[in-house]
Amino acid sequence: MSWNLLLWLLALCALLALVVQLVCFLRADGDLTLLWAEWQGRRPEWELTDMVVWVTGASSGIGEELAYQLSKLGVSLVLSARRVHELERVKRRCLENGNLKGKDILILPLDLTNRSSHEMATKAVLQEFGKIDILVNNGGVSQRSLCVDTSVDVYKELIEVNYLGTVSLTKCVLPHMIERKQGKIVTVTSLLGVVCAPLSAGYCASKHALQGFFNTLRIELATYPGIIVSNICPGPVQSNIVKNALTEEVTKTTGSDADQSHKMTVSRCVQLMLISMANDLKEVWIADQPFLLMAYLWQYMPTWAWWITNKLGKKRIENFKNGVDADSSYFKIWKTKYQ
Ligand SMILES: NC(=O)c1ccc[n+]([C@@H]2O[C@H](COP(=O)([O-])OP(=O)(O)OC[C@H]3O[C@@H](n4cnc5c(N)ncnc54)[C@H](OP(=O)(O)O)[C@@H]3O)[C@@H](O)[C@H]2O)c1
Ligand SMILES: *[C@@H]1O[C@H](CO)[C@@H](O)[C@H](O)[C@H]1NC(C)=O
Repeated sequence: MSWNLLLWLLALCALLALVVQLVCFLRADGDLTLLWAEWQGRRPEWELTDMVVWVTGASSGIGEELAYQLSKLGVSLVLSARRVHELERVKRRCLENGNLKGKDILILPLDLTNRSSHEMATKAVLQEFGKIDILVNNGGVSQRSLCVDTSVDVYKELIEVNYLGTVSLTKCVLPHMIERKQGKIVTVTSLLGVVCAPLSAGYCASKHALQGFFNTLRIELATYPGIIVSNICPGPVQSNIVKNALTEEVTKTTGSDADQSHKMTVSRCVQLMLISMANDLKEVWIADQPFLLMAYLWQYMPTWAWWITNKLGKKRIENFKNGVDADSSYFKIWKTKYQ
């Protein structure tokens, strides 16, 4: 075979590989390391059974779904949030549909902002189950309001719940994990911990803070390879997060019941979270297109990312000011055009 032909063949293969990659990326709903782990990595049902998993924000949305999927894997569950009756509802459904018995699920009411209660809560878990294998820092609140109109109290509340509450609980659990030289600290930050979007300055700040904190903690724990610090960054997911989002004042939430069909289902999001937990990934992005593409642009091509974000941001603010849901309107167009 001539050298020329060989070169042509090689070039063709490279082109083919590129096209395959591109198609994979267009269909991706998570970063490529995560999707590789889903395909070739360890399975949650091999890795997570018999573990004691403490989930905050378990009364709704992602935390609630996580409780359901974990209860099928045969773990011991600790469910925390403020609303006890909602936690009881979640526990009942776990028992109906999962493989657990009543004694495998502990309901532990917890307010992330009441930091003086976190030590006692941690003791209660250890007393009940003797160990904590995985802490899932999931509880949180979002925000929908323009900076100029927003009270500083709103920013304070977002930091208190999302950031300081999470840091405080983690610091209570950490000594126990260090003593055992093992454990997983899984924190649901957000794609908004990596990129930025208008109407959520305080939320973005709290999630960027979490990213900075846990990325630093991971380095400090490098001498404990058995302790895994993992950040989960979801894009838009169907849940009550927008309904519960704070607005210009701390006392007012959006109460929005806008269409969520353009968002990822909560079951798919949690499925990928479990893959991440089983494979000890450090940071994962869980989002449909075009959100995933935006994250890649922000990470690797910031100049382009700014140009696009400014364009989309203007439209988002305009929608918000007109009282339309900030996102759903242009996703209607996106959906009809491209799906
Ligand atoms: N859905 C999304 O699009 C999305 C995207 C990226 C990141 N996230 C993150 O995912 C996490 C879960 O949100 P979600 O989408 O499932 O929203 P959700 O349906 O509103 O659930 C939020 C959970 O947090 C709990 N929580 C709120 N304030 C709390 C406090 N002070 N103390 C203790 N628990 C508190 C709530 O329980 P109680 O009210 O009973 O306390 C609830 O269980 C959040 O950290 C959110 O930032 C969500
Ligand atoms: C905070 O938690 C402590 C201990 O559980 C409790 O005694 C106290 O009433 C709580 N504070 C608030 C403001 O809920």
